[in-house]
Amino acid sequence: MTTNPALRLSALALLGLLPGTAALAQSAAPATITVQVNKPVAPVAKNMYGLFFEDINFAADGGLYPELVKNKSFETDDQLIGWKAVRGAAGLESYLISTDRPISNANNHFLRLSVKTAGPDAAFVNEGFRGMGVKAGAEYTFSFYARKGPGNVAGVTVTLEEAGLGRGPETAASGPALAQVKITGLTSEWKKYSVAMKPSATAAKARLKLAVEGTGTLDVDVVSLFPKDTYMNRENGLRPDLVQLLKDMKPGFLRFPGGCIVEGRTLAQRYQWKETIGDVASRRPLVNRWNTEFIHKFTPDYYQSFGLGFFEYFQLSEDIGAEPLPILNVGMACQFNSAELAPITSSAKGPNAAGQGDEPSLETYIQDAIDLIEFANGPASSPWGAKRVAMGHPAPFNMKMIGIGNEQWGPQYLERYEPFAKAVKAKYPNMQIVSSVGPSPDGELFDKATLKMRELKAEFIDEHYYAKPEWFRQHADRYDNYPRTGPKVFAGEYAAQSVAIGSPDNKNSWDCAISEAAFMTGLERNAGVVTMASYAPILAHVDAWQWTPNMIWFDNLTSYGTVNYYVQKLYALNKGTSVLPVTMPANAKNGTDNLFASAVADAPTGDVIVKLVNYATTPRAVKVNLAGAKKVGKSGTAQVMASDDLSTMNTIAEPTRLTPKEEKFAVSGSTVSYTLAPNSFTVLRIPGKK
Ligand code: AHR
Repeated sequence: MTTNPALRLSALALLGLLPGTAALAQSAAPATITVQVNKPVAPVAKNMYGLFFEDINFAADGGLYPELVKNKSFETDDQLIGWKAVRGAAGLESYLISTDRPISNANNHFLRLSVKTAGPDAAFVNEGFRGMGVKAGAEYTFSFYARKGPGNVAGVTVTLEEAGLGRGPETAASGPALAQVKITGLTSEWKKYSVAMKPSATAAKARLKLAVEGTGTLDVDVVSLFPKDTYMNRENGLRPDLVQLLKDMKPGFLRFPGGCIVEGRTLAQRYQWKETIGDVASRRPLVNRWNTEFIHKFTPDYYQSFGLGFFEYFQLSEDIGAEPLPILNVGMACQFNSAELAPITSSAKGPNAAGQGDEPSLETYIQDAIDLIEFANGPASSPWGAKRVAMGHPAPFNMKMIGIGNEQWGPQYLERYEPFAKAVKAKYPNMQIVSSVGPSPDGELFDKATLKMRELKAEFIDEHYYAKPEWFRQHADRYDNYPRTGPKVFAGEYAAQSVAIGSPDNKNSWDCAISEAAFMTGLERNAGVVTMASYAPILAHVDAWQWTPNMIWFDNLTSYGTVNYYVQKLYALNKGTSVLPVTMPANAKNGTDNLFASAVADAPTGDVIVKLVNYATTPRAVKVNLAGAKKVGKSGTAQVMASDDLSTMNTIAEPTRLTPKEEKFAVSGSTVSYTLAPNSFTVLRIPGKK
């Protein structure tokens, strides 16, 4: 059904169904909006709309990174996270985590199983990430390292099975087997075994059982069940449906790996990119700082396996056509948590008797950044470039931007930021730097940081806005009078919060999304100043999230874009190449009449693209005049998102409840008369005459 009320109403009127309503739509004089087509004011950056990725809400492990086994190497602090013996130890004589002659020093814990009496209960089960999502007929590679100890272990039966209803992994009486393989020929040395498994049915919450055949001792490590179907069929690749949703937005950049995750709750738990590259089996997991952050969503089993590490982030950026934008720790742990600080210079004294005082100084953090640039861009002859090449990417990743610190504030940040930025620029003068101005878009800390960044001639300042939907509508003019010189703004994290920041009741509602659309008219009108923007966070598992709202939600098998996703996508796919000035009717200036607009020209197509938000419960007629236009086509295409109900959301059950609908409209001369639907976001594409 059409979403253009003008068409909808006249269709109903024709049917004689709605005599009064059409009159209502036409009663008010149309609001005249003038777009000055021949006077572009600024270019729109090629990478204006991008992605903010953080491993929050099981976005990486359990999400984008499709390994199905949780804690595959037994290296987490609580080494049996994700694993359970069937019937406790009833079937096994014992099980323990051992370090006796491990696979490697980097991977020095493994599981040792001892069986006295052979039987089906001599088994260990991995629960996956809130279960394992597997598809009928698809191929999964099971692999593990195994070593036989004393006794007569004959092999291992590996079963992918439905979790027995309500019985949990501690019971042998599990659900039906979906796939089963037997591994035999085990030796007394560590050896990797690999075999394909094809489930006979689709299951969203399967589990993996390793049953020991025979009696004796068996050591196992690096247990993996990995789908063959990954994005671009990459080994150690990513979940295709999620990558596709991201790619469909044609993102200009990919910021990674966060977010507060960069900072860690303590400095020891900070994100260290060097720990995330090289052999996947040797990457040591680290606790995820979102694990116990919110009482309402305790996820103590949340770790970062780093299967999705910095190499994979760069590769993902390349695969989806986005500029990579890594953000590095600046020697500060999360200021909402421990706020630990790395010393600015290394202690001349070294560690004291208690072993304190030897923590890495800022120099280490700076060196990490310098090395990262070499890893991304350096030649094979450079030490870090060689590592990238060894991982299979001889060409440079062409990294052009780096973020120094995530969401830091205060003098402690500035003290660290300055030498950091100086050192990066000294070695790589063309590397563009993103600087933080704290977590809020206003207030004393923000003002001071912004001033200082101007003084330091910073290139990009990273502003974050998490606020109620009305804040977004009320601040659509935020940049209209912003200085045109000095740092560019990176709107690095934003999302309307229907209840409050951190509230578990926040919803990805149309009210939030339309308010973001209204705010974004202001970003677009000022694209000469705001050159990058990203909604945050972008991914969340429906059974394992900590933070809401998020742009894309998924379960173990499916995923969907929220209404907010579609707003972002409409902007990204219609970003144009230069900003056109827009004059609103006097009473609608800056959205005061709940009418918001921006316009761009798109040089490759010759189109003029006008974005309009009607945050009102009634239809609104507008007259868009293309002033100074030389050539205008006779009809255009509109993309419309509209809902009478501001609480409308997409969900797993109804993933496309509200998505853009395409319509045609007529152009008369250089004027478009259009009726905006109630509570709507409309993108009009008006072609230059071909
Ligand atoms: O997006 C969630 C969090 O919000 C980010 O990790 C942090 O940068 C901000 O406070």
